[in-house]
Amino acid sequence: MRLFRKSKSAGEPDLSKLPRHIAIIMDGNGRWAKRRGLPRTAGHAAGAENFRAIATHCKNIGIEYLTVYAFSTENWKRPPDEVATIMGLLEKYLREAIAQMERDRVKLKFFGDTSVLSEDLRTLIAETEAISKRFEGVQVNICLNYGGRDEILRATEAYAEAYKNGTAPPLTAESFSTYLYSANIPDPDLVIRPSGEMRLSNFLLWQSAYSEFYFTKTLWPNFNPHELDKAIIAFQERDRRYGGI
Ligand code: FPP
Repeated sequence: MRLFRKSKSAGEPDLSKLPRHIAIIMDGNGRWAKRRGLPRTAGHAAGAENFRAIATHCKNIGIEYLTVYAFSTENWKRPPDEVATIMGLLEKYLREAIAQMERDRVKLKFFGDTSVLSEDLRTLIAETEAISKRFEGVQVNICLNYGGRDEILRATEAYAEAYKNGTAPPLTAESFSTYLYSANIPDPDLVIRPSGEMRLSNFLLWQSAYSEFYFTKTLWPNFNPHELDKAIIAFQERDRRYGGI
């Protein structure tokens, strides 16, 4: 009989106290590229690779939900070639994800107004969401043409419509949440923003009411699994009081 459980070594997160839901603003791709004398688009390609590595790490250690900010409602202001590169990377990722989904068992969901995206992307999104419904596992939510204010306005409209039809539940924070893209998903416990910026930039405004925040100067393409472990350890040292004492 083993009398002692193997204790976690320093520098490793306690796997019995993991955040259920981690949300990440994948920031710093442009600066990463600039420092290497590369075009910004190379930074996004490196960022997309890193996203895969982080999603795999989340799955391996047992995180239930990962939400990433891939493209905001404001990102359309960027030069057309940069927008096209990000959309192209998403397409590439989705094609590869579809091919490996049965094996990887990573569920994908999309937050945002995807109706304005290219037909190819919309088809890929519909396909990945349909396959995802077939199994349980880590869920990755990709925010695409997403804005927190836009999400709250759309939810308000949907609630008002239901109210007019007499089908709306009594209005509470809980019932309102079911009209958001994140319906039935727990709020993020931990919101991470790499690259040194310390703002929310219209990301998960409603859902982050009681989230813990973690900021680091590390740029997104360099935010490797070890960096994520550090963020989780910092989270595990916090005292969450939700307005109590
Ligand atoms: C922010 O960095 C990054 C984005 C607006 C795009 C994020 C997109 C990806 C990582 C690629 C596609 C995603 C997936 C899920 C496959 P920035 O360009 O604002 O960096 P900067 O602040 O250094 O300029």
